[in-house]
Amino acid sequence: MNGIDWQTLRRLRRTYLEGTAGLRDYWQSDADLEAYDRTFAQRIGWKWDFVLADLEARGWRPPRGTVLDWGCGSGVAARACLDHFGRTEITRLHYADRSAQAVQYATRKAGMKYPGLEVAAGAVESPTVLLLSHVLTELSPEQVEALLELALTAETVLWVEPGSFEVSLALIAIRERLRTVFHCVSPCPHQGRCGILAKGNEAHWCHHFATPPSAVFQDPDWGRFAALLEIDLRSLPLSYLVLDRRPAPAPPADTVRVLGRPRIEKAGARLLGCAAEGVREFRLPKRTLPEAFHRFRKGRWPSWQRWACRQDEITEILAS
Ligand SMILES: C[S@@+](CC[C@H](N)C(=O)[O-])C[C@H]1O[C@@H](n2cnc3c(N)ncnc32)[C@H](O)[C@@H]1O
Repeated sequence: MNGIDWQTLRRLRRTYLEGTAGLRDYWQSDADLEAYDRTFAQRIGWKWDFVLADLEARGWRPPRGTVLDWGCGSGVAARACLDHFGRTEITRLHYADRSAQAVQYATRKAGMKYPGLEVAAGAVESPTVLLLSHVLTELSPEQVEALLELALTAETVLWVEPGSFEVSLALIAIRERLRTVFHCVSPCPHQGRCGILAKGNEAHWCHHFATPPSAVFQDPDWGRFAALLEIDLRSLPLSYLVLDRRPAPAPPADTVRVLGRPRIEKAGARLLGCAAEGVREFRLPKRTLPEAFHRFRKGRWPSWQRWACRQDEITEILAS
């Protein structure tokens, strides 16, 4: 991280924590965007990797056409998609942001990374793929409404946000509005009303955890980043939503999306699972399912699983 301006990172972090990022354009220079791109954006990229790997594992690919990365910052979301899905489906990439500096930076960086790809500055109507990443906390209610109008012109929407309670609930409210038009591809294993909204689930939210590359934990620069900005490198909570006008094949009825972190107890783990019939807590007994229990205890579990259950007790892991 040679040449990183740590003061810039501190300023950005303060702006995000204070919730003042929406008030004015905070990108002051290319150096700001470079510092962000090498640190905060890397962490956001790992969240995108989590979402895109999950989509890939389930055989989902984006439709062919234009991609718009809206609120692009340094442009990491589109780069993550290009790195996962390749260039064949992407005919043109557009970057848009209220900051002209950010658009310029993102456009230049993608142009250098993917020679030959058409990369354009500015929004486009009816994008084939709309990418939204960490924008919700910076938008007023009116701006969110305008963004949803744009989303309604897209064929697919991939939206990744922080995994906080408030942001997850905001994204759920958006899902409830858009699911009349789009199919919910992920994280939901069903197309119905979000189970988090059911009575009794007020304390829960739909969030997941991405895993940073292990090299990060041995890297002194990342150690400095964590110490200076008081960020726990191990924890990468996210909430997300993938919507598609194309019909999504229905997953098997016993499919469950594991939400949040498991609660590890002596006799087993308690897991919050989202399934077609709703969101509820399941028990995974250590005695009968020791390997699965071990994976949950170690913090390594695929969030998309299939279980056989007797009431709330998991009796068999059918696929994970
Ligand atoms: C936290 S950054 C996220 C950047 C990038 N999407 C990422 O995930 O790294 C939020 C971005 O939203 C942009 N933004 C904020 N309000 C906006 C608005 N009203 N219209 C367009 N972009 C906006 C900011 O300039 C900033 O680049």
